Formats: sequence, C-alpha cells, structure tokens
Amino acid sequence: MLLPSFYITTLKNNSQVRIRLLQWEDEEKLLAYFASFSPETRNRFGPHPFDASTVHQICTNLEQDDIQRYIAETLDGKQIVAYMLMKHGTLEKDAERMHTYGLDTLGNAFTFAPSIADSYQSSGLGSIMLTYILASLPARKIILWGGVQASNQRAVSYYTKFGFHKVGTFEYHNGTNYDMIREPT
Ligand SMILES: CC(C)(COP(=O)(O)OP(=O)(O)OC[C@H]1O[C@@H](n2cnc3c(N)ncnc32)[C@H](O)[C@@H]1OP(=O)(O)O)[C@@H](O)C(=O)NCCC(=O)NCCS
Repeated sequence: MLLPSFYITTLKNNSQVRIRLLQWEDEEKLLAYFASFSPETRNRFGPHPFDASTVHQICTNLEQDDIQRYIAETLDGKQIVAYMLMKHGTLEKDAERMHTYGLDTLGNAFTFAPSIADSYQSSGLGSIMLTYILASLPARKIILWGGVQASNQRAVSYYTKFGFHKVGTFEYHNGTNYDMIREPT
C-alpha cells in the first residue's frame, strides 16, 4: 500500500507526534534519543550499540540498509520519541533458534525491534506506529529481534495485541526470553 511519507497523530496524553522514516539529518537527534533511555529501557531494547559512531554509521548508510528505520518525533521536529526497526530477513542467531522449534520457512520474514521514549511509553504510540508500519509493508511473517524478555510484560502484551504468538523460550543473560511470531494477515 502506498502511504504518505509521514503521519501525524494525537496520543492519549494529548501530545502530537509525526511518524516517518529515519533520515540522515536525524543523526544528532537519534543520539540524544538513545541518551535519554532509562536503565530499564536500555536493558529491554538492544538491537545495536547506542554510541556516536554507530549512530553516524546508521544515518550515513540508510540507502544501503536492509532495515527500515521508523521514528516518531515531536511536531517541532526537535525531539525523537520513538525508533522502530523492521529488518528484511532474519538474524542468524534468531533463525537458528527458530530452526530448533521446527520453524525454518523464514526466508521472507521481517524482524522487528520497537522502542518508545520512557515518557511516551503506554501512550498508545507503540500501537499507532506499528499499525502504520504494517500498512506500509507487504504482508509477511514477523519475528522479534532477539526475542522478548519474559519479565517485560508490557512488551509481551503489546506483541500479543498485534497477533504475535509464543513459539519458544530460551535463556539469555540469566533471564528467560520468548520468541514470538506474527503470521501474515
Ligand atoms: C513495548 C513498547 C514498544 C510498547 O509501546 P507503548 O507505546 O508503550 O504501548 P501502547 O501504549 O501502544 O500499548 C500497547 C499495549 O501494550 C500493553 N501495555 C501498555 N502499557 C502497559 C503497562 N503499563 N502494563 C502492561 N501492559 C501494557 C497493553 O496491552 C496495550 O494495549 P491497550 O492499550 O490496547 O490495552 C514500549 O513500551 C517500549 O518501547 N518499551 C521499552 C523498550 C522495549 O521493551 N522494547 C521491546 C523490546 S522486545
């Protein structure tokens, strides 16, 4: 489906944000976004390091990227308040675990990793953004990037709300994690 290149929405807390793809000009704001994470959010969301050189590399290689990187920003454009990744394909480690569950038809899948700024969590932004992302992509299987920590109840409820179901459990960093999959609809 062809969607407008941005989407403006009003959240439960009455603030307005603009959802769009990340652009190279966002480098400084993206770095500030990661720096704003609480220890808990940092512990929950870890697809890549958050240092300046990683952020520079991401923002200068967007054209070659096999990952769609979506952000939400305040309407004045000064602050990024959400960052979500949708990778084409799967990471080797994730695919290996899926294989152990007997799931190996993931060639066409997407791999998803969402994050919302601490002060915007539970505002409905995660739901609005994922709805926007799903409408902008072809219908395919979606798996979670590195699974989800079993203790992360908000994220587990969020994924369940969007039709993800648990396909396996694994231990990582002394904690239990779930692999969840969303079938194409
Ligand atoms: C997980 C995350 C993406 C969800 O986005 P969000 O904007 O906070 O979620 P929403 O407000 O859209 O709520 C979506 C659903 O999550 C659940 N949820 C929201 N807040 C919750 C809370 N405080 N406790 C339990 N469940 C909650 C509900 O099922 C809710 O659906 P509903 O509003 O229809 O009842 C976001 O909280 C986040 O980035 N957390 C930190 C990083 C993280 O955990 N990333 C995922 C790593 S696997």
